[in-house]
Amino acid sequence: MPPVALELAYIVSGALFILGLKRLTSPATARSGNGLAAAAMLLAAVATLLDRSIVSWTTVVVALLVGTLVGVLLARLVKMTDMPQLVAIFNGFGGGASALVASAEFLRTTQTGAEPGLLVGITVAIGVLVGTVTFSGSFIAYGKLQGVVTGKPVTWPFQRTLNLLLFLGLVGVAVWMVVGPPDSALLGVLAALAFILGTFLVLPIGGADMPVVVSLLNSYSGLAASAAGFAIGNPLLVLAGALVGAAGLILTQIMCKAMNRSLANVAFGAFGGGGTAAVEDGDRTVRRTSPEEVALLLAYARTVVFVPGYGMAVAQAQHELKKLMDLLRERGVEVTFAIHPVAGRMPGHMNVLLAESDVPYDLLKDMDDANPAFQRTDVTVVVGANDVVNPLAREPDSAIAGMPILDVDHSAHVVIIKRSLSPGFAGLDNPLFYQEGSMMLFMDAKEALGALAREVKEA
Ligand code: TAP
Repeated sequence: MPPVALELAYIVSGALFILGLKRLTSPATARSGNGLAAAAMLLAAVATLLDRSIVSWTTVVVALLVGTLVGVLLARLVKMTDMPQLVAIFNGFGGGASALVASAEFLRTTQTGAEPGLLVGITVAIGVLVGTVTFSGSFIAYGKLQGVVTGKPVTWPFQRTLNLLLFLGLVGVAVWMVVGPPDSALLGVLAALAFILGTFLVLPIGGADMPVVVSLLNSYSGLAASAAGFAIGNPLLVLAGALVGAAGLILTQIMCKAMNRSLANVAFGAFGGGGTAAVEDGDRTVRRTSPEEVALLLAYARTVVFVPGYGMAVAQAQHELKKLMDLLRERGVEVTFAIHPVAGRMPGHMNVLLAESDVPYDLLKDMDDANPAFQRTDVTVVVGANDVVNPLAREPDSAIAGMPILDVDHSAHVVIIKRSLSPGFAGLDNPLFYQEGSMMLFMDAKEALGALAREVKEA
């Protein structure tokens, strides 16, 4: 391939990556953004393989077919609620691949008897270190999310001291690799220590915090790719890695902010280990309601806001919700959806599910737009959400103090659809259930919304 063609392919790929990422910022354009970025990756990979004469066209086509088959199968078979696990695996492979690319460059240079040079040495060390930490950390995260590894924080004596020593050891080996005589054995030691560090860093974090960890590891995988790009002198890999690294870091920050927790608290706080259900005080009563009563409220309301949460995802109730929305809109009711940034168990969880059932994007309101509107709302229906509407967050000494919530209790009526009074992810009781104006519809979300749609039709 002529060098100018390769450069052109890289420039087009780079531009498509940036355009794709830009389009991912809105649910309305996200699908096409994903397509653009995938096309960019295909172009970049094929151009590189052909330019370096690494493989023949036949191999490229066969690999494409196999890759497409695996992709289609994953897209069809993996449940939406299992997406964080899939992303964890992708990150793990991304980190592992970068570590291998960086290692291969080191071995290639040293086998020719040449000195790798300072830049290659440093970037190889970073690529192997960060890539391997990402690899082992991601697979532990996958195990925790899938329930293969215990979701409880795993701790042992002198944990942080041990991790610090391990890290210092790693830095020592990396420095020796760069300044000492080229020795491929050092590469093995570096990878082995990094593998242990990745495992040790993720094991103490509670299973429920894994989405934040996965997002952070995503950022690491970008950093490792960028380092590998420097090592092999591939500018597009540097660019793609930097984009992934930055995007992962921004997402991690958004998630931490929405949970009102610092990254350090996620990493060392051992929060989200599960099983810390608050005690019921027994004196308080809740007001139970029925689909018939709620349907009447909805059918004669002017404004209705739906607040989806993790329970909607579990029940896969998004299609029933859309049907109910259509019926209400036909009756002239103004319907919107209030989306909390960490509702569900992964970033954009609710947006993805509602998009799947064709809810118009302009009806989805983020927290800042939704909160002032609750005061003017006749009925708010909370569909399987709990923590994101928990007024305890307004109490300075509660475990979720300061977490921004959706102010559903400011609306005239609040209907909460869930199966019981069980707490959500944070393991806390929710005073909203006992407040005046709150009504509990104790049902599975899918069944409840189906019943509401039937009743609204008849109302
Ligand atoms: P949660 O607070 O976890 O509450 C979900 C509720 O859904 C539960 O109380 C449960 O009550 C109910 N539920 C479960 N299955 C149901 C079904 N089939 N039908 C109806 N209801 C059902 O959810 P949330 O309000 O969405 O908050 C998310 C939490 O996850 C936050 O604490 C957040 O910090 C955390 N988190 C989020 C993320 C991201 S990125 N989204 C990442 C990590 C952690 P019943 O059992 O009584 O039905």
